[in-house]
Amino acid sequence: MNHLISKYNIPGPRYTSYPTVPYWDKEGIPKETWINSVKRSFLESNEKEGISLYIHLPFCESLCTFCGCNKRITKNHQVEGPYIDALLKEWDLYCDLLEEKPKISELHFGGGTPTFFKAENLDRLLTGIFSKSIIPKKPAYSFEGHPNNTKRSHLEVMRKHGFNRASYGVQDLDIKVQKTINRVQPFENVERVCRESRECGYDSISFDLVYGLPHQSMDSIRNTILQIRELKPERIAYYSYAHVPWIKGNGQRGFDENDLPKNEEKRALYECGYQLLLDSGYHEIGMDHFALEHDDMFKSLENKNLHRNFMGYTASKTQLMIGLGVSSISDSWYAFAQNVKSIQDYYEVLKKGEIPIFRGHELNKEDLFIRKIILDIMCHFEAQWELNDDNYLIIQDSIKRLKELEDDGLVTITENRLQVTESGRPFVRNICMAFDLRLLRNKPKTQLFSMTI
Ligand SMILES: C[S@@+](CC[C@H](N)C(=O)[O-])C[C@H]1O[C@@H](n2cnc3c(N)ncnc32)[C@H](O)[C@@H]1O
Ligand code: SF4
Repeated sequence: MNHLISKYNIPGPRYTSYPTVPYWDKEGIPKETWINSVKRSFLESNEKEGISLYIHLPFCESLCTFCGCNKRITKNHQVEGPYIDALLKEWDLYCDLLEEKPKISELHFGGGTPTFFKAENLDRLLTGIFSKSIIPKKPAYSFEGHPNNTKRSHLEVMRKHGFNRASYGVQDLDIKVQKTINRVQPFENVERVCRESRECGYDSISFDLVYGLPHQSMDSIRNTILQIRELKPERIAYYSYAHVPWIKGNGQRGFDENDLPKNEEKRALYECGYQLLLDSGYHEIGMDHFALEHDDMFKSLENKNLHRNFMGYTASKTQLMIGLGVSSISDSWYAFAQNVKSIQDYYEVLKKGEIPIFRGHELNKEDLFIRKIILDIMCHFEAQWELNDDNYLIIQDSIKRLKELEDDGLVTITENRLQVTESGRPFVRNICMAFDLRLLRNKPKTQLFSMTI
């Protein structure tokens, strides 16, 4: 295995979209094209499956120095009111485009830290959003909370609006690791927030863990998992630390490169956690994710409904996902669009009454064909295609390229089907890269992506 890790540990996308963001059309997307694709997708899908809404709440009180998310650090809570006003304005603009009330099947508050906001402000936001939409019988609503600042009032307000899943950043419970990443968070806080979530009626709790952090060891990983498994979270995201200091400025430079476990050492940390999670009753779901059998995510894997988008894995698929807030990405299936990244710009575009996107990509037939293959590999470790599809010819080179991975025992491939083997699972990003025609045609000149392993 070690020689395979050295061979395949190269920079590569995490494929929350295809084409990946750096390969979106350099010309961008005209706002009219984006709006038309939203209208088309809405008409095709709202009645049947509803839509997903992602709301980005970017503020955090302090900076965790490993963090790769899009966030603004501030202790000034005066920022909350104007930001909620802007989100509601953006939602109004989308609702004005739609011919009927949207049915919100999935809703996710991401960040930053949604629990930075006071509960009453989240209440105002949700009341405004739902005043213009329909809530289905079994909604899947979730939020990302920081265990240090999630209060019972937050839990009660979101539960009142139908939220049923809470996701908490745990990362690692070792104090030395926590101090190095500037995120001291005692186990008692995680235990409290988990207990209170269950008391309030949340039926799915999810924890984020990260491996490959500075000073992490087999012992710290083992102790973290042994402690958190006592709390029986339904889902665990076990992320590979993405070291991307060139994107995130000084935020990730709070420690030395030498403090980071690399290659085989990092992979060993993953294997250690992976085995312990399986021994604890968790099932592997796609890449980096684990779930207990009674959780919807496991059921959707079994029923082949698992989906992947900018929110990561989701238990069901909606064709249309609208992202509100700074830097949010929306997906109409036919096109992607991203909102402006600065809060100032966000306010200014909205003041003009315009949808605040600044770039995007309209998918052509080839993109749609490849997108489906990559999605199937990321979700189900397998993909199939029709031999009589016009696009079949364009993946001939990909099939040839995969020969080497087949010789290494990572995939089995026939002329119309690919299956990732057990030992190929850690290399799923590399396998998708063989189909990523945009990346292959235009190799990056500088490093754009984190390492695949
Ligand atoms: C928006 S944060 C979670 C919510 C909340 N802000 C918190 O910190 O608890 C989303 C998650 O992304 C993961 N994450 C952030 N930066 C990362 C990085 N550089 N590599 C891998 N995972 C990362 C962390 O596990 C984090 O919990
Ligand atoms: S890990 Fe969470 S709290 Fe820390 S900086 Fe990132 S988004 Fe903010």
